[in-house]
Amino acid sequence: MLPHKQIELKLQAAVLEILPDADVSAVLVRPCDPKFGDYQSNALMSLAKVRKTNPRQLATDTLAKLDVSEVCEKVEIAGAGFLNFRLKNSALVQTLETAARGEHLFFDKAAKPKTIVIDFSSPNVAKPMHVGHIRSTGIGDALQRTLRLLGHHVISDNHIGDWGTQFGKLLLGWKQALDRAALECDAIAELERLYKVINAECDANPERLEEAKAELVKLQAGDAENISIWKEMIRLSQIQFDTIYSRLGVNFDHALGESFYNPWLGEVVNDLLAKKIARESEGAVGVFSDGSLPPKEDPFLVNRDGEWIADPALVRKSDGGFNYTTTDLATIAYRLKTWSPDEIVYVVDDRQSGHFKKLFLVLARWKPDATKRTKLIHVGFGKILGDDGKPFKTRSGDTVKLGDLLDEAEARAFKIVSGKNSELSEAQRKEIARVVGLGAVKYADLLPNRQSDYIFSWDKMLALTGNTAPYLLYAYARIKSIFRKSEAESEIRNPRSAIALAEPEEIALAKHLLNFGITLEAVAEEYRPNYLCNYLFELAVHFSRFFENCPVLKAEDAAMRDSRLALCGLAARVLKQGLETLGMEIVQQM
Ligand code: ARG
Repeated sequence: MLPHKQIELKLQAAVLEILPDADVSAVLVRPCDPKFGDYQSNALMSLAKVRKTNPRQLATDTLAKLDVSEVCEKVEIAGAGFLNFRLKNSALVQTLETAARGEHLFFDKAAKPKTIVIDFSSPNVAKPMHVGHIRSTGIGDALQRTLRLLGHHVISDNHIGDWGTQFGKLLLGWKQALDRAALECDAIAELERLYKVINAECDANPERLEEAKAELVKLQAGDAENISIWKEMIRLSQIQFDTIYSRLGVNFDHALGESFYNPWLGEVVNDLLAKKIARESEGAVGVFSDGSLPPKEDPFLVNRDGEWIADPALVRKSDGGFNYTTTDLATIAYRLKTWSPDEIVYVVDDRQSGHFKKLFLVLARWKPDATKRTKLIHVGFGKILGDDGKPFKTRSGDTVKLGDLLDEAEARAFKIVSGKNSELSEAQRKEIARVVGLGAVKYADLLPNRQSDYIFSWDKMLALTGNTAPYLLYAYARIKSIFRKSEAESEIRNPRSAIALAEPEEIALAKHLLNFGITLEAVAEEYRPNYLCNYLFELAVHFSRFFENCPVLKAEDAAMRDSRLALCGLAARVLKQGLETLGMEIVQQM
C-alpha cells in the first residue's frame, strides 16, 4: 500500500476512536507545500466545525491515537488544526524500489470499484464534427481512461444525435436537390448544403416548411423510403465520425444513438402523466416546477421583467413529437436497467446545464429510488475562443471542421519537428509530427480548468517550452535517450539495485512520483483531467532539475548510477502512463 494510503487509513481509525460516529470518508491527506511537509490533512477542521468543537483540541486528541511512525517523521499540528506529515526517507525509498521492480506505478486500484456510464462526444448526424467536439471527446476520453486505470467498471456510450426535426428538411433536400457526385466526394458537406438550402427555403416559404414536416411525419411513421434514406445519412456520418475517432484514438463501448430509444418515448410520457409528474399545457406535455426550490434555484422557472414564469421541461410537443428531454429520460431508464450504474456522467457543453438540471430533477421525481442509488453528474465545459475573444471560427467566419484542424496541427508540428530533427527521415518526422500535433491539440484543450473558455493558439500549444504537449513529449524522449546511451535499455531495472536519495533534486523528483496516484484520484473525484496535466508538467520540471544537477551516466560510482537510472526509468513510466491516460501517444525520440 502506498504511504499516503497508509497514513489515511490510520488517520481515519484514530478519528474513529475519538469520534466513533464520524463519517471518515472525507478524512484524506493531500500533497502540500514542501515548507510544511509532504502531505497535509485539513479534515479535522471540518469535522470540528460540524461538531462545534475546538479543531486544535481534536487534532491533539487524534494525534495521541495516531501511530504512523512506520512511514512518517513526527506529525505536526499547524494553524487552526492542519495535520502535516513528512515521509521517512526509508518509506520513500521502499516505495520507489517496489515500483522499480514493476510491482506498482504509484497508484492503487479503487478499493470499491464503481460502475460508471460515461456519455461523451455525441455528435449529430449529417453535420461535420467541428472544433467544439474536441472538448467533449477529449475530456470524456481522458476521464474514461482515468477511471479504468483506477479499476472502475466504465461503460462509454456515444449518444449520437441521429433523430430529430432536422431530418424533415434533410429528407426533403435529399429527394429534391441531392447532387450525387458531391455526395460521393464529400458526403457530410453535401448533407450540410442540402440542409442549408432547404432551411432557407422553409424560412421564406411556409409551404416548404409544411413539406418538410410531412417528410418527418412519414419518417416517424416508418415509411420505408424515408427510413432507408435516413439510414444512409447515418451510415455516411458514421464513416466521418469513425475516421476522426480512430485518428484521435478514442473508443466507445456503445454508440446507442437517440433513435435507439424511440420505442420507449410514448411510454415515458404516459408514465409521467399517470404519476402526475407531467401535465398538459397548451396541447404539449411538460414537467413544471413543484415549488420545492427557491425560485432563483428552480430551473423550471425563468424571470421575465421581474416576474417568475414557468419554464417547463417539455416531453411531448403539441404535434405529438417528442423532445430531447424525453429521449434522455428513456436513455437513463435503459442505462439503469441494463447496467445498474453507480454513476452516469455526461460530458456536455455548459450551455446545456439548464437541460441537465431539469433532467436530473425530473428523474428524481420519476424514479426516486434510482436517484438514491445512482449519482447523475453533468461534467460541463466552456467554449473555445479565437484571438478576438469570440467563438473560434475560420477567417471566412465558418465553423472550424475538426478534420481540417487536425490536418493543420500535424502540418505545423511537421515544420517544428523538421527544424529540430533534420537528421531523421521524412517518414519518421511525419510520424513524430502526427503524435506531437494531435497531442498538442488535445493537451491544450485538457489543460485549462474545463469550465473556463480558452483562446485557441497554435503558437502556444506547439511551443517547445512551457506547459505544452511538445515539452512533455520531449521530456519523455529525453529520458529514453538516456537509456539508449546506457547499456541498460530497459526502464525496469535490475530488481536488486538499490535506490539511494541524496541530492535535494533527487528527493523532490522522488516525492513527486509518489503523488501520481493521488492526482489520478483527484481527476476521477472531480472529473478534472487538468490536474493530471499540471502534475505531468511539474514532473517534467522536476526531472529536468534533477537531470541538470545529478549526473546519471557519469555518476560517481555504479551504485549511484544505477539508482539514478532507476529514477529516470520511473519518471519515464509515469510520464508515459500519464500521457496515455490523457489520450496522448508518445514518441521515442524528438
Ligand atoms: N447531441 C447533443 C448535442 O450535440 C449532445 C448529447 C449529449 N448527451 C445527452 N445524453 N444529452 O448537443
